[in-house]
Amino acid sequence: SKGTYPYYMLKEIDEEPAVMRRILSNYQTDDQSHEFKIDTEILDAMQQADKLYIVAAGTSYHAGLVGATLFEKLTDTPAEAYLASEFGYHMPLLTKHPFFIFLTQSGETADSRQVLVKINQMHLPTLTITNVPNSTLSREADYTLLLYAGPEIAVASTKAYTAQIAVQAVLAKELGEAKHVQAAQAFDLQQQLSLVAAGQQQLVDEKDHFKELAHDYLADQPSAFYIGRGLDYDVSLEAALKLKEVSYILAEGFAAGELKHGTIALIQDNTPVIAFLTDPTTVGLTRGNIKEVQARGAHTMTIVSQALATADDQIILPDVDDLLTPLLSIIPAQLFAYYASLEKGLDVDKPRNLAKSVTVE
Ligand code: F6R
Repeated sequence: SKGTYPYYMLKEIDEEPAVMRRILSNYQTDDQSHEFKIDTEILDAMQQADKLYIVAAGTSYHAGLVGATLFEKLTDTPAEAYLASEFGYHMPLLTKHPFFIFLTQSGETADSRQVLVKINQMHLPTLTITNVPNSTLSREADYTLLLYAGPEIAVASTKAYTAQIAVQAVLAKELGEAKHVQAAQAFDLQQQLSLVAAGQQQLVDEKDHFKELAHDYLADQPSAFYIGRGLDYDVSLEAALKLKEVSYILAEGFAAGELKHGTIALIQDNTPVIAFLTDPTTVGLTRGNIKEVQARGAHTMTIVSQALATADDQIILPDVDDLLTPLLSIIPAQLFAYYASLEKGLDVDKPRNLAKSVTVE
């Protein structure tokens, strides 16, 4: 039940720190070894792979974009996320030894399932990462890993997004360890996920601040942009989807460097442009892009990791490893979507035209 919450969406955002801790405790080994429990069968199959194909829809696809980077950095294996609705009918040339990861909160998404059916006909190895044990995609894949996010009732996915990133991080860490990849060996994921949980708690406790920012930046605005590079670009796509689906503000997530190649024509006085800045290698470039849109009248906001923060930034994120910043930076954006929707008097949990589980292609 919603308990004292007005909407499930807010309850589910508030649950994100607890979900992180649950993932940590369900996947960590019982000893103090700083390792995680992943079936050796899964790791063995994945070690044979020359590329990891992540297939998903909507928010789960956005979690897959982040996951692809985690797998590449921690396992030295090429990884790429694909939209399920595109992949099945316009399949790219596959590598010799592909391994498929299906990301799906519900485990029932038809677009994802049609790909799994085709991959099964090709007798290629498959893993489903899902929130629902015994769901269709779980039953039809070779292996399953669970998200342990608890039931997600609000149509807009929030805690499943961060859970999907965290479980992919656990899998990447263990696969990287199995492959003796130095980056994985040096990555203390247990400590990092504890830091993430504490950082998320700090952010959800700041919700009044985000409510004010949502009012100042987004109320009465017909459109908005989220920008970033690298993982921050991936988060921009999810931040924009959240805002669109629950507040009906036309939002776009943009690669920060691409804005000037056309879309900057849409920037007018007061157009909100919200930038994620957690990538040290490109922070200077993105700060330059912010200046470009400011000069055209944009109302800019920055969501910045601690190490990169200046006195002028609006939101400073608690400190975690650069690979895991999406687990923190998405939280203000989820809350912006929630409060923008609330302010417009909309039914936050049941946006028009949407269903929780999309069982048609
Ligand atoms: C967005 C949202 C959808 C789902 C998508 C995939 O908030 O909820 O975009 O992420 O329909 O659903 P699952 O993960 O159940 O396959």
